[in-house]
Amino acid sequence: MSVKNELVLDKLPKHIAIIMDGNGRWAKKKGNLRIFGHKNGVSSVRESSESCAELGIEYLTLYAFSTENWNRPKNEVRALMELLISTINSETSTLLKNNIRLNAIGNLNELPDKTRNKLNEAIDKTKNNDGLLLTLALSYSSKDEIIHAIQNIASDVKKEKIKSEDINEHLFDQYLFTKNMPNPDLLIRTSGEQRISNFLLWQLAYTELYFTDVLWPDFNKEELYKAIYEYQQRERRFGKTSEQLT
Ligand code: IPE
Ligand code: IPE
Ligand code: MG
Repeated sequence: MSVKNELVLDKLPKHIAIIMDGNGRWAKKKGNLRIFGHKNGVSSVRESSESCAELGIEYLTLYAFSTENWNRPKNEVRALMELLISTINSETSTLLKNNIRLNAIGNLNELPDKTRNKLNEAIDKTKNNDGLLLTLALSYSSKDEIIHAIQNIASDVKKEKIKSEDINEHLFDQYLFTKNMPNPDLLIRTSGEQRISNFLLWQLAYTELYFTDVLWPDFNKEELYKAIYEYQQRERRFGKTSEQLT
């Protein structure tokens, strides 16, 4: 029986974020090249997006490529940028079929022109969908995002668009790439690593963290249901006491 049947449907996370990790190790275990792992990770992206859309989850944010990942061997970086193009080509129909709107965050200017153009094309094709918002974090660094926000706030103060007394959490949120998105309720990281790796540092302040040893290419709908099930067993106190919640 699927764990899906045990989920409490009115207690689903609104926003799930995933650090998709373990493609290289998955390929190595099979005696293959790292890129083989990346290619096999595409079906896990499809399964997670489809199951979120089916459940009615509103936001799914996938960490696909960090700014630090630019330091990987050139042929791996090139292969990943090409994989992104072929994935968009093959998966845009899945997005349209499931009413999913595509979005991207990160230093997108650093992507090769061909990759960025393909991405923008898919974002445009899906812009009228109003189901799941699927955000890809590409060439993303949370520290960069925060610095960028501070620079823009400083510049708006200088231009007298805002006053320094106006700076608060809510205003800061509006200067991040994730503006208008709620913070993630659940963060999943696959592959057994238990770290954040420069992902959504500000936004994860009160997120429930879920770590699984499953390598990303083996992550499927059932694994996602398991993560949501575990999330539903947690008590989110936001600093209060248990008694205050009931
Ligand atoms: C995640 O898998 C994909 C990216 C970071 C692009 P990895 O490529 O990090 O796989 P491992 O961690 O080396 O197994
Ligand atoms: C984090 O994975 C980035 C993505 C999943 C895109 P890494 O494999 O790059 O992270 P570290 O280096 O193990 O922390
Ligand atoms: Mg990794």
